Amino acid sequence: MSIARRLASLAFLALGSLITLGGQPAWATGTAAGTAPVGTQAKTAERADTSTALFPAGWPFPADRTPAAGSRGMVVSADTLASAAGLAVLREGGNAIDAAVAVHFALAVVYPQAGNLGGGGFMVVRTADGREATLDFRERAPLAAGRDMYVDEDGKAGSASRTGHLAAGVPGSVAGMAKAHRRFGRLAWDRLLEPARRLAAEGFPVSERLHDALTAQLERFSHFPATAAIFLPDGRPPSRGAVLRQPDLARSLEAISDSGPHAFYRGWIADSVVAEMERGGGLISKRDLEEYRAIWRGPIVIQYAGRRLISMGPPSGGGVVLGEMLGMLERFDLRGLEYRSADEIHLMTEAMRRAYADRNRHLGDPDFVSVPIDRLLSPAYLDSLGKTIDPERATPSEPDVAVAPESAQTTHYSVLDSAGNAVAVTTTINGSFGSAAVVRGAGFLLNNEMDDFTTRPGEPNMYGLVQGESNSIAPGKRMLSAMTPTIVVAPDGRTELVTGTPGGPTITTSVLQVVVAQLDHGLGAQQAVNAPRVHHQHLPDLLRYERGGLEPSVIEELERRGHRIEERAGFSGDVQSIYVSPDGVRYGAADPRGGGAALGY
Ligand code: GLY
Repeated sequence: MSIARRLASLAFLALGSLITLGGQPAWATGTAAGTAPVGTQAKTAERADTSTALFPAGWPFPADRTPAAGSRGMVVSADTLASAAGLAVLREGGNAIDAAVAVHFALAVVYPQAGNLGGGGFMVVRTADGREATLDFRERAPLAAGRDMYVDEDGKAGSASRTGHLAAGVPGSVAGMAKAHRRFGRLAWDRLLEPARRLAAEGFPVSERLHDALTAQLERFSHFPATAAIFLPDGRPPSRGAVLRQPDLARSLEAISDSGPHAFYRGWIADSVVAEMERGGGLISKRDLEEYRAIWRGPIVIQYAGRRLISMGPPSGGGVVLGEMLGMLERFDLRGLEYRSADEIHLMTEAMRRAYADRNRHLGDPDFVSVPIDRLLSPAYLDSLGKTIDPERATPSEPDVAVAPESAQTTHYSVLDSAGNAVAVTTTINGSFGSAAVVRGAGFLLNNEMDDFTTRPGEPNMYGLVQGESNSIAPGKRMLSAMTPTIVVAPDGRTELVTGTPGGPTITTSVLQVVVAQLDHGLGAQQAVNAPRVHHQHLPDLLRYERGGLEPSVIEELERRGHRIEERAGFSGDVQSIYVSPDGVRYGAADPRGGGAALGY
């Protein structure tokens, strides 16, 4: 369903403060990606190049798509209704953190594939006065978890880390949102949960994307009656445009709205989680929930192309891997290379390969393992690693492994307010609809984040990542992530880019390519998001590209240099970016690969 149709079909929903004069939702007056900007004229810094030559001839997304523009605030998320909830908060005087909280809870309702109460994530904040903060609200392993809990009698890791109650880590999202709000928020907490509560109680029209995602879960959900009761009424996914109501989820949101995180980690919701664990053989206990804490951690700071990048540190590998890749690439002249040429993709692939080898060997939860961040990001180390890149030949990754099936359901949202406060959040329940297990009576899905641990050293996880002991399971430990919410600061001190994406291990390589496209090749925000992307993660030794994303001559040349190349089954990621031009215009770029929206004013 198009944004316009979805907005129109929502007009009947009395969304309280979202409704304004003339029966138009306030947020319908924002500018949306794909529409002509109404408030502010798009200005110079957005590249006006409409040349089709920028992307390969077979690439389905345009090089000239106009981003949303605004002079004050901008919200970009994977769902129009969630972006609208955030925009309404900004218009009401809330700041970027307030809006991010509203978006987060709205996504938990309208985008259950990845939005969540039962998952976790990471937030990067840069305030208008230049303060930087990164928040870890990643799930942790239950205290009863153990290193080999998923290894069966044949020594194999089965499917229990992916589907069902045993796959769930202790959720962090509610604690994370509350912690961010306590430190930076301005509007009342209950105001920020109200759009989500109403969307859950009164329902929202099911998008084509949600319908299709639910259709893909028919068999899996058949093993989880409480889940099927919500998402497969009459045994089938709701049809496109049908209104989906989630009364149990509305009750949970109301409790969190009234009592804060206490309701989730100690009150009746906690009791429901524990009862659900007992029913389904999961491990999360009352103590696990009571002890969960979101943690402010030091940011990963990367200097690149005269900019300062602020990204997420362990237990996300995102910032370190991004820093390693950019650090190696800075030693080559990317700007002098043609965009998406074999030369450029070869260098990027070799940087990806090396950074992912380090990720899988060294990174893990810093509260449990010593992570050599300073060494991995030191100029001397990046120099030595960069020197091992042969500009003419691929370096084989040894030993190779089988390719794992791909699944990548996480979500990212970016927010910038009129004062200039910026927030980048990536959040997840890991696979699509997480573990598939809903907490009965509380109405939300539990994550299957335990699969992000090394469930068995040497064996690929669901993303094909082959990880090491640094990421092995231990009670209370956080599993390593690839999430890479990132904020770029321009030399003049303004927040220049707020970005991030879902996509499992492709998250960090997607962010890399967005950053390089804008900073090195001068693409506009929307062009950088629309552009084709490639991915390599050391093992399997495979360079993947999106269908139509590389010219045949480029593929041929990369193969000649020794790369094993494969076309992906689908597209990669769902980037949500905000770019701020030197004259202060906010451009919002939602990824056409997803169904999201950039809404600004
Ligand atoms: N669950 C995907 C990630 O955290 O990287």
